[in-house]
Amino acid sequence: MRFKPGFCRICDHPISPFMDFGDMPIGNGFLSLDGFETEYFYKMKVAVCERCFTFQVVEVPDPKKMFHSNYAYFASTSHYMVKHFQEMSERLIDDLKLDENSLVVEIGCNDGITLKNFVEARVPSIGIEPSSNVAEKARSKGIKVLDKFFNLETANTLVEEVGNADLFIATNTMHHIEDINSVFAGVKELLKPKGVMVQEDPYLGDMLKLVSYDQIYAEHMYLWSITSLNNVLARHGLEIFDIERNKFHGGCMRYYICHKGAFSPTEQFLKQQNKEVKLGIKEAKTYHKFRLMCEESRDKLVNKVSEIRESGKKIVGYGATAKSATIINYCNLTCEDIPCIFDSTDFKQGKYSPGAHIPVLPAEQFKDEKPDFAILFAWNHFKEINDKEKDFERYGGEWVIPIGQLPK
Ligand code: SAH
Ligand code: TMP
Ligand code: ZN
Repeated sequence: MRFKPGFCRICDHPISPFMDFGDMPIGNGFLSLDGFETEYFYKMKVAVCERCFTFQVVEVPDPKKMFHSNYAYFASTSHYMVKHFQEMSERLIDDLKLDENSLVVEIGCNDGITLKNFVEARVPSIGIEPSSNVAEKARSKGIKVLDKFFNLETANTLVEEVGNADLFIATNTMHHIEDINSVFAGVKELLKPKGVMVQEDPYLGDMLKLVSYDQIYAEHMYLWSITSLNNVLARHGLEIFDIERNKFHGGCMRYYICHKGAFSPTEQFLKQQNKEVKLGIKEAKTYHKFRLMCEESRDKLVNKVSEIRESGKKIVGYGATAKSATIINYCNLTCEDIPCIFDSTDFKQGKYSPGAHIPVLPAEQFKDEKPDFAILFAWNHFKEINDKEKDFERYGGEWVIPIGQLPK
């Protein structure tokens, strides 16, 4: 189902945008030359609902335009993320005592970064993944995957065909789905009475703190907080009982979710819930300030790029992230400003960035290019990339961080 613009997608309350980022292409929509003419743009405006406090992109493209057989994000590109999800899987298998009689369902399983660990541990699992190219990659790792958009209907089919789940995983996926009520209605049907859902995604509190406005784009149409997520969950007889924070993707929150009353809330969950309210997550002035800080960050980047160009020094981009589309298009940066972006994803190399059409080149060529400056669009992988490109700083190169600040 598609939604009426001007109303909260969660609770149908009227919403009005507090910020307009202008026309935006699809963040993961890397193009070949023949795709320029028909490139799709939407108006990227953001709002926070006054009733349920969900931070949301007001208008988003049809999901089929974003998740399909040419989806560009392959989660296992980062070794750190591979390790992160391996650790998560091992802990969940231990804590929830999962074995060959259990069932794990993961949505947005992508290239199998997480489910491969359950396959190796012989815990039965199934992935739901509408982007068929990444789903195929997961299948090559021995994972069972359905090429589908998860919703209430898919959940009912799963219950009939494979039974109820002990564990439901959605990492970096719940902010991609327009009809989130249908997803949680499905989770309600699918989870066993003592089943657990684990959701993890970039945390609104971290985005506000770092001014990492590049976390916002159509595929990231929500920035969740404990407050907003619990409001959605309450509509479906579900609730958060525990949380954990981590530094991945610039600051994520992991939420442990269960049927209402199935587990007691932990101290750390209650503490963080109070903390975010004190930080102003429910107040309009927080978002007004955020908008001003985004504008400041944009002006700083645009000025830095102009200064570098005027001084005749060489500047490139590093990490053709979906996030970079928000920065490049909001800051009106062009191929004249950034002649190329280096990236390690085979699928993106030889293509052009969405909107500005900046060529994407293999990361191995970065060393030969010897730029003076590199805008690190994949700032969330700073350590991994800086370790790989040690020579860059050693020979006087400078990383330019395109957001407010790097996570400490
Ligand atoms: N879980 C991985 C990948 C996240 S990318 C990680 O944490 O890194 C988000 C994935 O969600 C994409 O592969 C996308 O195709 C998928 N997705 C989008 N809408 C979905 C839906 N309705 N149901 C299931 N998966 C969906
Ligand atoms: P992400 O921030 O959405 O995870 O995307 C990271 C992008 O950066 C992805 O296109 C792959 C690229 N990348 C590199 O080019 N080199 C690296 O070492 C890593 C970790 C990522
Ligand atoms: Zn709402």
